Amino acid sequence: MSDLNNLETQLLNDITAASDEAALESLRVGALGKKGSVSELLKTLGKMSPDERKEQGPLINGLRDKIASAIATRKAELDSAALDARLSAERVDISLPPPHHPRGSIHPVSQVQAEITAILGALGFAVADGPDVESDDYNFNRLNIPPEHPARQMHDTFYMKPQDDGSRPLLRTHTSPVQVRTMLKQKPPIRIIAPGRAYRCDSDATHTPMFHQVEGLVIDTETHLGHLKWTLEELCRTFFEVPKVAMRLRPSYFPFTEPSVEVDIQCDRSGGKICFGEGNDWMEIAGAGMVHPRVLEMCEIDPQAYQGYAFGMGLDRLAMLKYGIPDLRPFFDSDLRWLKHYGFAALDIPSQEGGLSR
Ligand code: PHE
Repeated sequence: MSDLNNLETQLLNDITAASDEAALESLRVGALGKKGSVSELLKTLGKMSPDERKEQGPLINGLRDKIASAIATRKAELDSAALDARLSAERVDISLPPPHHPRGSIHPVSQVQAEITAILGALGFAVADGPDVESDDYNFNRLNIPPEHPARQMHDTFYMKPQDDGSRPLLRTHTSPVQVRTMLKQKPPIRIIAPGRAYRCDSDATHTPMFHQVEGLVIDTETHLGHLKWTLEELCRTFFEVPKVAMRLRPSYFPFTEPSVEVDIQCDRSGGKICFGEGNDWMEIAGAGMVHPRVLEMCEIDPQAYQGYAFGMGLDRLAMLKYGIPDLRPFFDSDLRWLKHYGFAALDIPSQEGGLSR
């Protein structure tokens, strides 16, 4: 009898003292395992006389239950202590980049878009946007390109299925419909840029069916071509990170601007690669002009009171020129090796103060 009590006291002390799960487990095996001390006692029941068994049975079974529940209690204590220790030891500074995981990078087009936005944002331009799926009216008609206009042929448009009302949505062929959307929504003075995607059915080393443009639009009472030239000079000088860049405007034609110009910047191609801000060569970088009075009218702005300029340039081409990327097509291949090579660190947000292309 006292043997049972001694065993119980001993086991309960050991269980309370068990300092980890392994120690507890070996106590469990030693007591309740096949050959454990308590199990051995249970086996003796079979050999007892019925009277003896009646007396000993409840005692030995009671001991087994007590030990089992003491082990379970101690295990729960150890588990929660282990969790507390882990929680206080494993600290994660979520402001740090994950050290051993593959890092994403910023695509050169996104980088260039952020750079241009930073530069023109500092000059007071706001960012506007519009949908990729556009109406014929905004992409063409209100930009002074009526259905029969030959300029439509130059746009290689992707049309969608005709709607029930007979209209045919399209993938915008340029970012210029954002001009229309902005003028219909906002009264002058207007000073916006609209970076985004555009689509034309065209594909070779320098053309992809989807590409990126940035549109600029300024409407005020006295805005003129001189303002346009200065703004683009400032943009190019800052973008290419050179102290000065000469610029020339060549007469051109766009249905939505009058006069229309093509904008070239000075460059040097003699060393096998292109450098900006030096040399005697020219590189075309934008289409631009004074917004056509008909366009102002169709966008509900009084051409007698207001005038302004617009420009459009290709972001993909600017990225190729600035970062020396020879082929346009891999821009959209999602090849991780290419992205790693040409991509930018995610947290280096371009600004004129912090640096554009660090
Ligand atoms: N939308 C023209 C194009 O895609 C570019 C442009 C924009 C020209 C604004 C003049 C003014 O070719």
